[in-house]
Amino acid sequence: MKIVVLSGGRSTERNVSLSSGARITNALRSKGHKVAYVDSFLGVDANSDAEVDALFTTDPEDESKLIISDEVLTTEKINALRTDGTRGLFGKNVMRVCQAADIVYMGLHGEDGENGKVQAMLDLNEVKYTGSGTLASGLAMDKKFSKEIFFQNNILTAKYFATKNSEIKSSDLEFDFPMVVKPANGGSSVGTSIVRDESELKSSVQEALKFDGEALIEEFIEGREFSIGLIDQRVFPAVEIVVDTGWYDFEHKFIENNVTHFITPPENLDPAIHKQMQDLALKTFEALGMVNYGRVDVLLNDKGAYVIEANSLPGMTPLSLLPREAAADGVDYADLCEMIINSKLAWYENNK
Ligand SMILES: Nc1ncnc2c1ncn2[C@@H]1O[C@H](COP(=O)(O)OP(=O)(O)O)[C@@H](O)[C@H]1O
Ligand SMILES: [Mg+2]
Repeated sequence: MKIVVLSGGRSTERNVSLSSGARITNALRSKGHKVAYVDSFLGVDANSDAEVDALFTTDPEDESKLIISDEVLTTEKINALRTDGTRGLFGKNVMRVCQAADIVYMGLHGEDGENGKVQAMLDLNEVKYTGSGTLASGLAMDKKFSKEIFFQNNILTAKYFATKNSEIKSSDLEFDFPMVVKPANGGSSVGTSIVRDESELKSSVQEALKFDGEALIEEFIEGREFSIGLIDQRVFPAVEIVVDTGWYDFEHKFIENNVTHFITPPENLDPAIHKQMQDLALKTFEALGMVNYGRVDVLLNDKGAYVIEANSLPGMTPLSLLPREAAADGVDYADLCEMIINSKLAWYENNK
């Protein structure tokens, strides 16, 4: 098969995407697929059909491409990378290369890849791609709209207040400290903080608003944290995330450390509750209209299982949760990438 792995982009998660894109590329090449690894923002030099075709290869990418830079990127820093004077998300020849593929593996993370706009662009250009479509991607990406869907579907989730400015006092809210403040559209815990008293509230909202025009203030749910990935109807075993110090922030997510533990299949968990969380993940996935694959984050305490958010393009770095859960279910990394592609191709077959 001819596959484009589309990664990079211009979101704050660009570096994470570049790294997991290289890993996905190598995994698919190890399976014998001809894969073009494309940085969607910088584009590629390919000015003839022959040059486009030459990008599809089975030779592995350099291992150094797998390393994630820990620099937090800003829009200015990202824009400065492209020096050819062109504008827009897609760099030169990106759509042309995508149109030469049987399917595009969506290796983008963060707003550009997850909010549905790239999916719309690919749909209009008759390019097949992995993951959910435009509407579900946008809903899953926006934590405010996701929550409204959760409420309508009786999916338990933390109470929240959405704000576009930081002039906010805890007395305006119907819940008390501690609270979690996050960008409505964001990911990888970037711009997210746990707020313990009034003095931190305003600055936390200001921080979250650096990453999106809207911030969510949520009640803090004390509980065990799990994440549940699925491909179609196949729900993998949950993974429990245990952080010895602090919480599951950007550093814990992407930088190798020995204070974050991932336990899958979960231990010391009633199998009936595990099954309920798996069913909840599938219900959440379907409520948002997601297809192909995804991952649902859950906090569990004695009041129930709270859905924090759904991820329409879950991370695929070695620390990421979906690859670990799949491995716990006997599916290795390369098989996982291939399953995602085959599942979406089957979906296209059934939804012509
Ligand atoms: N309401 C909440 N109560 C407690 N912890 C939370 C809450 N919301 C988020 N968190 C913590 O913050 C992390 C990131 O939040 P999440 O909503 O999943 O955003 P992201 O898209 O950045 O992953 C979660 O993995 C969890 O550890
Ligand atoms: Mg999350």
